[in-house]
Amino acid sequence: MDHQKISIGFDVYESIGQLTKEDADLLREAIKATDIAYAPYSHFHVGAAAMLVNGKTIVGSNQENASYPVGLCAERVLLSAASSVYPGVPITTMAISYRPEHGKSNRPISPCGVCRQTLVEYETLLKQPIRLILGGIEGKIWIIPQAGSLLPFGFSGEDMR
Ligand code: THU
Repeated sequence: MDHQKISIGFDVYESIGQLTKEDADLLREAIKATDIAYAPYSHFHVGAAAMLVNGKTIVGSNQENASYPVGLCAERVLLSAASSVYPGVPITTMAISYRPEHGKSNRPISPCGVCRQTLVEYETLLKQPIRLILGGIEGKIWIIPQAGSLLPFGFSGEDMR
């Protein structure tokens, strides 16, 4: 019997003021993108902003539907936009923030399982780890070096070949 362990490392910042200018700007873009969320059912507005290797940024926000499962998270809206507008161009960093209509935004949220699976596929396909900057409108910020580390034992397309 061989016992194995998986651990992940991430950096914790006290506030947006501690980030580099580039990271702070991207997080501000994610916060701004919460304004274009369509979230009349959950009232939970999520915004995401990504930096691409070509220096361009792309944003996304959650887009809900009266038939609830049809809705899309901000992260997957962003990835679909990125692969449509800049196909094949890897993403280096994605910032994710949120603004509930009722309640606070003072701690990080992290991507749901479906978005983690989608992020891993994007990383694998374009051979580029995606750094995640997770933060509310205020409060602590987490930086995770690679989205894939949030999904140990994720399903891989290679398993199908
Ligand atoms: N949501 C996101 O956009 N990203 C996440 O990482 C988690 C949840 C959205 C889905 C839904 O529109 C709302 O937030 C409440 O779950």
